[in-house]
Amino acid sequence: MKRDKNVVRWRDDGVTRKLDGKQVAVIGGTGGIGRALSRYLASLGANVVVVGQTFRDGDASRINFIKADLSLMSEAQRVAALLPAETLDLVIFTTGIFAAPQRQETAEGIERDMAVSYLNRLVILRAIAPRLGTQRPGALTKPRVFVIGYPGSGQIGTSDDLNAEKSYKAFAAHMNTVAGNEMLVLDAAKRYPQATFFGLNPGLIKTNIRDNFFGKDSLKSRVMEALIGMLTPTADAYAERIGPLLVAPEIERHSGALFNRKGQAILPSPGLTAEHIRKFMTASEALVARAGIQSAALSNEKPVSTSTHHS
Ligand SMILES: NC(=O)c1ccc[n+]([C@@H]2O[C@H](COP(=O)([O-])OP(=O)(O)OC[C@H]3O[C@@H](n4cnc5c(N)ncnc54)[C@H](OP(=O)(O)O)[C@@H]3O)[C@@H](O)[C@H]2O)c1
Repeated sequence: MKRDKNVVRWRDDGVTRKLDGKQVAVIGGTGGIGRALSRYLASLGANVVVVGQTFRDGDASRINFIKADLSLMSEAQRVAALLPAETLDLVIFTTGIFAAPQRQETAEGIERDMAVSYLNRLVILRAIAPRLGTQRPGALTKPRVFVIGYPGSGQIGTSDDLNAEKSYKAFAAHMNTVAGNEMLVLDAAKRYPQATFFGLNPGLIKTNIRDNFFGKDSLKSRVMEALIGMLTPTADAYAERIGPLLVAPEIERHSGALFNRKGQAILPSPGLTAEHIRKFMTASEALVARAGIQSAALSNEKPVSTSTHHS
């Protein structure tokens, strides 16, 4: 990962003040990194809605829950309609799994890792972006979207077999979701100038993300997570480190920027050209369409008008 020296450094100054009363949605906020971020933000006064399968923070004040199985695009669309997009200051996408050793398919016919780690984010983003943060009187910054993944790592993905039907390898399938999430940020930064978009690469953190790969509660899984736990920060430590970045004024003019585990700006993966991104996004929308969600509905933003009408 290469540092990006063009993005100004941000400072952690008075984060508490900036979070008070902020409206936040964390898609995948019930576990791991998303949960740590949700609890951190709520503890500093933000009102947080988390989306996931199992709610674990019923005792926390200021955290509300939307239950959904985001392996289904129909569920992603339902969640998008439920989210109070107009009043949101901050949206964090962090739902994810690791691809299983054998290919798994959802009821909608989509390879499961693609669906859970990437495509539901695309569906939700397309649906909420046009109305995101439009009712926040007096807001000093545009609404912000943070996409958690593994950007800047050199993965650019291949769009010719997104559903892994011709061949399936767990690592390759997961790397396509990694590439998709990086492209989601770069594409959205251009597509939606009314909001700002950032990619976060947390590095390795001890969570449950690898369960699907090693087998939940298996010896392999416990040994791996124990090792990772000894060598890497906890999700809570990461949340505390990265929390201030989420509201830092310095990044306002850097929509599309990506940040490493320390919150330092990094360069996009080489090879993510405009043409490559366009192809990957088109293939992604085509795959979502198979689940019955048409790209017309997906891209329901108004076309950008370049001409001014005089009457
Ligand atoms: N941990 C790391 O080392 C690491 C490193 C780099 C990048 N990342 C990225 O960070 C993000 C979060 O990972 P994590 O480590 O925090 O994982 P995690 O602990 O497994 O948490 C994943 C979250 O996704 C939700 N989720 C999973 N399947 C779902 C489904 N079908 N429907 C709805 N929600 C679902 C989980 O909710 P429930 O528990 O309620 O199902 C949970 O809130 C992922 O994008 C991952 O690729 C993680």
